[in-house]
Amino acid sequence: MKHFLSLNDIDSLPNLVEDAIALKKSPYQFDALGKNKTICLLFFNNSLRTRLSTQKAALHLGMQVLIMNFGKEGWTLEFGDGTVMNHSTSEHIKEAARVVSQYCDILAIRAFAGLQNKKTDEAEEVLRGFRKYASVPVVNMESSTAHPLQALADAITMEENKTKAKPKIVLSWAPHPKALPHAVANSFVSMIKMQHAEFVITHPKGYELNPEITHGCQIEYDQAKALEQADFVYVKNWSSYSNYGKVLHQDSNWMMTQEKLGKAKFMHCLPVRRNVVVEDAVLDGPQSLTTEQANNRTFSVQIVLKKILESL
Ligand code: CP
Repeated sequence: MKHFLSLNDIDSLPNLVEDAIALKKSPYQFDALGKNKTICLLFFNNSLRTRLSTQKAALHLGMQVLIMNFGKEGWTLEFGDGTVMNHSTSEHIKEAARVVSQYCDILAIRAFAGLQNKKTDEAEEVLRGFRKYASVPVVNMESSTAHPLQALADAITMEENKTKAKPKIVLSWAPHPKALPHAVANSFVSMIKMQHAEFVITHPKGYELNPEITHGCQIEYDQAKALEQADFVYVKNWSSYSNYGKVLHQDSNWMMTQEKLGKAKFMHCLPVRRNVVVEDAVLDGPQSLTTEQANNRTFSVQIVLKKILESL
């Protein structure tokens, strides 16, 4: 593996999930692979799980780790070609990427969607800018449109918890007071399309995800109907895609409850707003897989870093 920007960089999802589960049983078995190798993590946005799990995975592999909260501490980056930089930007992505490449062997980037301009967000200028000008492999720790490390952790979690060969998986929109990006939902849909599963997406009208990503998926606007006989229920908020970045409404009837969940396993990437997205009883109950998902973030990124280290 040369880079990990999206799930398309994976040769075989089932094989990678199997390898990650094996790695989990013996996390230090490849600790010589990263000796004298450094990973640099650049965060343009906040994080708990991604930051700590990536650091832990790199340490398991014997790597050294550099971390910078670029969004708060770095120079404001310019992305335009030929720009006369006499306004607010201080450093061009060309210099930033080339310089950071001198300090590390792998570069990991987190840069969320701004949700102000669909075209800008879909251009993925931070992730693609570093990919274009860096001379080391680049890993996506959540970009404007994708969170592939989360989707890989979710695939590992479902593989470990499924009780039938073809489970029913439901992705359910939930209310939220703030406008949130589409990255987690996009990557979850892309990952499920690589699985043997019955899959239904449910949300209120107006919250349709990018149709290029959901193409071929069943969309059911009646949440109760979608949840019938579900084995896994993945809950996530996202803002409108067609009315880009807008919160159309916060219908609390869409919050996930124990009653609605039935016998299904509950999944969410975290962080989650209790009693807005999902009620306490679900998160505190035995059907919640959220802590397992967070634990599997370590092994999703560790298997990716291992594959990249092997290709250096
Ligand atoms: N799920 C996830 O990416 O969590 P953080 O935003 O805390 O990293």
